[in-house]
Amino acid sequence: MNKPKTVIDIQRMKAEGEKIAVLTAYDYPFARLMDQVGIDVILVGDSVVSVVSGYETTLPVTMDEMVYHTRAVVRGTRNALVVADMPFLSYQVDPVEARRNAGRLVKEGGAQAVKLEGGENVAETIRAIVAMDVPVVAHIGLTPQSIHRMGGYRVQGKQEEQARQLLADARAVEEAGAFALVLEGIPAALAREITAAVSIPTIGIGAGIDCDGQVLVIHDILGLCEKYSPKFVKRYADVSGTISGGISDYIREVKGGQFPGEEHSF
Ligand code: KIV
Repeated sequence: MNKPKTVIDIQRMKAEGEKIAVLTAYDYPFARLMDQVGIDVILVGDSVVSVVSGYETTLPVTMDEMVYHTRAVVRGTRNALVVADMPFLSYQVDPVEARRNAGRLVKEGGAQAVKLEGGENVAETIRAIVAMDVPVVAHIGLTPQSIHRMGGYRVQGKQEEQARQLLADARAVEEAGAFALVLEGIPAALAREITAAVSIPTIGIGAGIDCDGQVLVIHDILGLCEKYSPKFVKRYADVSGTISGGISDYIREVKGGQFPGEEHSF
Protein backbone atom coordinates (compact mmCIF):
# COMPACT_ATOMS: atom_id res chain seq x y z
CA MET A 1 0.00 0.00 0.00
CA ASN A 2 1.20 3.54 -0.79
CA LYS A 3 1.90 6.03 1.96
CA PRO A 4 -1.02 8.48 2.43
CA LYS A 5 -0.29 11.79 0.66
CA THR A 6 0.35 14.89 2.72
CA VAL A 7 0.50 18.58 1.85
CA ILE A 8 4.29 18.24 1.88
CA ASP A 9 4.08 15.55 -0.84
CA ILE A 10 1.84 17.80 -2.96
CA GLN A 11 4.28 20.69 -2.68
CA ARG A 12 7.21 18.40 -3.47
CA MET A 13 5.45 17.34 -6.68
CA LYS A 14 5.70 20.90 -8.01
CA ALA A 15 9.37 21.08 -7.10
CA GLU A 16 10.01 17.76 -8.87
CA GLY A 17 7.89 18.59 -11.92
CA GLU A 18 5.36 15.79 -11.31
CA LYS A 19 1.84 16.79 -12.37
CA ILE A 20 -0.85 16.63 -9.67
CA ALA A 21 -4.12 14.82 -10.52
CA VAL A 22 -7.15 16.07 -8.60
CA LEU A 23 -10.84 15.10 -8.86
CA THR A 24 -13.91 15.95 -6.86
CA ALA A 25 -15.79 13.30 -4.90
CA TYR A 26 -18.79 13.62 -2.66
CA ASP A 27 -19.36 10.09 -1.37
CA TYR A 28 -17.71 6.83 -0.26
CA PRO A 29 -17.92 4.74 -3.46
CA PHE A 30 -16.47 7.38 -5.80
CA ALA A 31 -13.74 8.28 -3.29
CA ARG A 32 -12.82 4.60 -2.93
CA LEU A 33 -12.63 4.02 -6.69
CA MET A 34 -10.49 7.06 -7.45
CA ASP A 35 -8.28 6.47 -4.44
CA GLN A 36 -7.61 2.88 -5.52
CA VAL A 37 -6.44 3.96 -8.98
CA GLY A 38 -4.04 6.57 -7.66
CA ILE A 39 -5.65 10.03 -7.58
CA ASP A 40 -3.35 12.43 -5.69
CA VAL A 41 -5.93 14.77 -4.15
CA ILE A 42 -9.69 14.40 -3.65
CA LEU A 43 -11.61 17.65 -3.40
CA VAL A 44 -14.96 17.52 -1.63
CA GLY A 45 -16.18 20.44 -3.72
CA ASP A 46 -19.09 22.71 -2.92
CA SER A 47 -20.06 21.74 -6.48
CA VAL A 48 -21.79 18.86 -4.67
CA VAL A 49 -24.84 21.07 -4.38
CA SER A 50 -25.01 21.49 -8.17
CA VAL A 51 -24.05 18.05 -9.44
CA VAL A 52 -25.61 15.95 -6.67
CA SER A 53 -28.44 18.13 -5.36
CA GLY A 54 -29.39 19.85 -8.63
CA TYR A 55 -29.05 23.51 -7.64
CA GLU A 56 -28.05 26.12 -10.25
CA THR A 57 -25.26 27.66 -8.14
CA THR A 58 -22.93 26.54 -5.35
CA LEU A 59 -24.30 29.14 -2.93
CA PRO A 60 -26.90 27.06 -1.03
CA VAL A 61 -24.65 24.31 0.39
CA THR A 62 -24.30 24.40 4.19
CA MET A 63 -21.48 23.59 6.59
CA ASP A 64 -23.37 20.55 7.91
CA GLU A 65 -23.77 19.21 4.37
CA MET A 66 -20.07 19.72 3.62
CA VAL A 67 -19.13 17.93 6.86
CA TYR A 68 -21.42 15.02 5.93
CA HIS A 69 -19.96 14.61 2.42
CA THR A 70 -16.39 15.04 3.68
CA ARG A 71 -16.89 12.22 6.21
CA ALA A 72 -18.16 9.88 3.51
CA VAL A 73 -15.21 10.69 1.22
CA VAL A 74 -12.66 10.30 4.01
CA ARG A 75 -14.05 6.84 4.85
CA GLY A 76 -13.40 5.78 1.25
CA THR A 77 -9.88 7.20 1.07
CA ARG A 78 -6.60 5.54 2.08
CA ASN A 79 -3.92 7.27 0.02
CA ALA A 80 -5.11 10.59 -1.42
CA LEU A 81 -5.06 13.94 0.34
CA VAL A 82 -8.64 15.03 1.11
CA VAL A 83 -9.42 18.75 0.78
CA ALA A 84 -12.87 20.04 1.76
CA ASP A 85 -14.43 23.19 0.31
CA MET A 86 -15.57 25.92 2.69
CA PRO A 87 -19.12 26.83 1.62
CA PHE A 88 -20.37 30.34 0.92
CA LEU A 89 -20.89 32.32 4.15
CA SER A 90 -18.70 29.96 6.21
CA TYR A 91 -15.57 32.17 5.97
CA GLN A 92 -16.54 35.58 4.52
CA VAL A 93 -18.10 37.13 7.63
CA ASP A 94 -15.20 37.04 10.07
CA PRO A 95 -11.94 35.16 10.60
CA VAL A 96 -13.05 33.65 13.91
CA GLU A 97 -16.07 32.03 12.29
CA ALA A 98 -13.84 30.96 9.41
CA ARG A 99 -11.43 29.26 11.82
CA ARG A 100 -14.26 27.44 13.57
CA ASN A 101 -15.72 26.22 10.27
CA ALA A 102 -12.33 25.16 8.87
CA GLY A 103 -11.76 23.31 12.12
CA ARG A 104 -15.09 21.51 11.77
CA LEU A 105 -14.14 20.20 8.31
CA VAL A 106 -10.96 18.76 9.82
CA LYS A 107 -12.32 17.58 13.19
CA GLU A 108 -15.81 16.35 12.20
CA GLY A 109 -15.22 15.74 8.50
CA GLY A 110 -11.71 14.31 8.69
CA ALA A 111 -10.29 16.48 5.87
CA GLN A 112 -6.57 17.20 5.83
CA ALA A 113 -7.01 20.67 4.30
CA VAL A 114 -9.70 23.18 3.33
CA LYS A 115 -10.23 25.28 0.22
CA LEU A 116 -11.73 28.73 0.00
CA GLU A 117 -12.33 31.21 -2.81
CA GLY A 118 -10.69 34.61 -3.13
CA GLY A 119 -7.34 36.39 -3.33
CA GLU A 120 -6.18 39.54 -1.55
CA ASN A 121 -9.67 39.90 -0.05
CA VAL A 122 -9.35 36.63 1.91
CA ALA A 123 -5.61 36.74 2.68
CA GLU A 124 -6.20 37.59 6.36
CA THR A 125 -8.69 34.72 6.66
CA ILE A 126 -6.20 32.29 5.11
CA ARG A 127 -3.54 33.51 7.54
CA ALA A 128 -5.93 32.97 10.48
CA ILE A 129 -6.78 29.40 9.43
CA VAL A 130 -3.17 28.46 8.65
CA ALA A 131 -2.20 29.81 12.08
CA MET A 132 -4.22 27.01 13.68
CA ASP A 133 -2.35 24.46 11.53
CA VAL A 134 -5.13 23.76 9.06
CA PRO A 135 -3.62 23.75 5.55
CA VAL A 136 -5.44 25.94 3.03
CA VAL A 137 -5.89 25.73 -0.75
CA ALA A 138 -6.81 29.09 -2.28
CA HIS A 139 -8.99 29.44 -5.39
CA ILE A 140 -8.92 32.42 -7.78
CA GLY A 141 -10.18 33.35 -11.25
CA LEU A 142 -13.67 32.12 -12.04
CA THR A 143 -14.81 31.63 -8.47
CA PRO A 144 -18.32 30.12 -8.56
CA GLN A 145 -19.34 31.65 -5.21
CA SER A 146 -18.91 35.08 -6.87
CA ILE A 147 -21.40 34.31 -9.63
CA HIS A 148 -23.51 37.40 -8.96
CA ARG A 149 -20.51 39.75 -9.15
CA MET A 150 -19.21 38.05 -12.30
CA GLY A 151 -22.67 38.06 -13.94
CA GLY A 152 -22.38 34.37 -14.85
CA TYR A 153 -19.68 31.76 -15.22
CA ARG A 154 -17.30 33.74 -17.44
CA VAL A 155 -13.58 33.42 -18.13
CA GLN A 156 -11.74 35.89 -15.87
CA GLY A 157 -8.47 37.76 -16.40
CA LYS A 158 -8.86 38.54 -20.08
CA GLN A 159 -8.40 42.27 -19.53
CA GLU A 160 -4.98 43.51 -18.47
CA GLU A 161 -6.18 45.04 -15.22
CA GLN A 162 -8.03 41.84 -14.23
CA ALA A 163 -4.93 39.79 -15.08
CA ARG A 164 -2.75 42.06 -12.94
CA GLN A 165 -5.19 41.68 -10.05
CA LEU A 166 -5.15 37.87 -10.38
CA LEU A 167 -1.35 37.86 -10.27
CA ALA A 168 -1.50 40.04 -7.13
CA ASP A 169 -4.13 37.66 -5.67
CA ALA A 170 -1.89 34.64 -6.31
CA ARG A 171 1.05 36.32 -4.57
CA ALA A 172 -1.17 37.43 -1.66
CA VAL A 173 -2.54 33.94 -0.95
CA GLU A 174 0.92 32.41 -1.18
CA GLU A 175 2.23 35.03 1.23
CA ALA A 176 -0.73 34.34 3.58
CA GLY A 177 0.31 30.68 3.78
CA ALA A 178 -1.88 28.79 1.29
CA PHE A 179 -0.08 25.58 0.29
CA ALA A 180 -1.72 25.31 -3.16
CA LEU A 181 -3.82 27.43 -5.49
CA VAL A 182 -6.71 26.52 -7.79
CA LEU A 183 -6.80 28.61 -10.98
CA GLU A 184 -10.24 28.38 -12.57
CA GLY A 185 -11.44 29.76 -15.91
CA ILE A 186 -8.52 32.00 -16.86
CA PRO A 187 -6.48 32.26 -20.08
CA ALA A 188 -3.75 29.62 -20.39
CA ALA A 189 -1.04 32.27 -20.81
CA LEU A 190 -2.03 33.97 -17.54
CA ALA A 191 -2.11 30.62 -15.72
CA ARG A 192 1.43 29.94 -17.03
CA GLU A 193 2.58 33.33 -15.71
CA ILE A 194 1.00 32.78 -12.28
CA THR A 195 2.40 29.23 -12.06
CA ALA A 196 5.90 30.59 -12.70
CA ALA A 197 5.42 33.47 -10.25
CA VAL A 198 4.47 31.43 -7.17
CA SER A 199 6.30 28.61 -5.42
CA ILE A 200 3.10 26.80 -4.38
CA PRO A 201 1.48 24.31 -6.80
CA THR A 202 -1.24 25.65 -9.08
CA ILE A 203 -4.14 23.33 -9.92
CA GLY A 204 -5.97 24.35 -13.08
CA ILE A 205 -9.55 23.92 -14.20
CA GLY A 206 -10.08 25.62 -17.54
CA ALA A 207 -6.65 27.21 -17.14
CA GLY A 208 -4.53 25.38 -19.71
CA ILE A 209 -1.76 22.83 -19.66
CA ASP A 210 0.94 24.71 -17.77
CA CYS A 211 -0.54 24.51 -14.30
CA ASP A 212 1.20 22.15 -11.86
CA GLY A 213 -1.92 19.97 -11.72
CA GLN A 214 -5.47 19.67 -13.00
CA VAL A 215 -8.85 19.29 -11.29
CA LEU A 216 -12.21 18.36 -12.77
CA VAL A 217 -15.62 17.43 -11.39
CA ILE A 218 -16.01 13.63 -11.38
CA HIS A 219 -19.59 13.74 -12.68
CA ASP A 220 -18.40 15.80 -15.68
CA ILE A 221 -15.60 13.46 -16.75
CA LEU A 222 -17.83 10.39 -16.43
CA GLY A 223 -20.72 11.88 -18.39
CA LEU A 224 -23.00 11.88 -15.35
CA CYS A 225 -23.99 15.52 -15.54
CA GLU A 226 -25.88 16.35 -18.70
CA LYS A 227 -27.09 19.81 -17.69
CA TYR A 228 -24.18 21.58 -19.36
CA SER A 229 -20.62 20.76 -20.27
CA PRO A 230 -18.07 23.56 -20.24
CA LYS A 231 -15.34 23.67 -22.92
CA PHE A 232 -12.65 22.69 -20.41
CA VAL A 233 -14.28 19.35 -19.55
CA LYS A 234 -13.05 16.19 -21.24
CA ARG A 235 -15.46 13.28 -21.03
CA TYR A 236 -13.60 10.03 -20.30
CA ALA A 237 -16.63 7.72 -20.02
CA ASP A 238 -20.38 7.57 -20.62
CA VAL A 239 -21.62 6.32 -17.30
CA SER A 240 -25.11 7.81 -17.81
CA GLY A 241 -25.70 5.37 -20.68
CA THR A 242 -24.59 2.41 -18.54
CA ILE A 243 -26.81 3.48 -15.62
CA SER A 244 -29.88 4.11 -17.80
CA GLY A 245 -29.35 0.74 -19.51
CA GLY A 246 -29.12 -1.10 -16.20
CA ILE A 247 -32.19 0.61 -14.75
CA SER A 248 -34.22 0.00 -17.92
CA ASP A 249 -33.29 -3.71 -17.80
CA TYR A 250 -34.40 -3.89 -14.15
CA ILE A 251 -37.76 -2.20 -14.87
CA ARG A 252 -38.36 -4.51 -17.85
CA GLU A 253 -37.57 -7.65 -15.82
CA VAL A 254 -39.75 -6.60 -12.85
CA LYS A 255 -42.68 -5.79 -15.11
CA GLY A 256 -42.12 -8.95 -17.19
CA GLY A 257 -41.94 -11.15 -14.10
CA GLN A 258 -38.34 -12.28 -14.78
CA PHE A 259 -36.89 -10.78 -11.60
CA PRO A 260 -36.34 -12.11 -9.00
CA GLY A 261 -35.25 -15.50 -10.34
CA GLU A 262 -34.81 -18.57 -8.21
CA GLU A 263 -31.16 -17.70 -7.59
CA HIS A 264 -32.29 -14.44 -5.93
CA SER A 265 -34.96 -16.08 -3.78
CA PHE A 266 -34.81 -17.94 -0.43
O1 KIV B 1 -16.38 22.75 -6.00
C1 KIV B 1 -15.66 22.39 -6.93
O2 KIV B 1 -15.93 21.40 -7.60
C2 KIV B 1 -14.46 23.20 -7.21
C3 KIV B 1 -13.65 23.01 -8.44
C4 KIV B 1 -12.31 23.60 -8.35
C5 KIV B 1 -13.62 21.73 -9.13
O3 KIV B 1 -14.17 24.05 -6.46
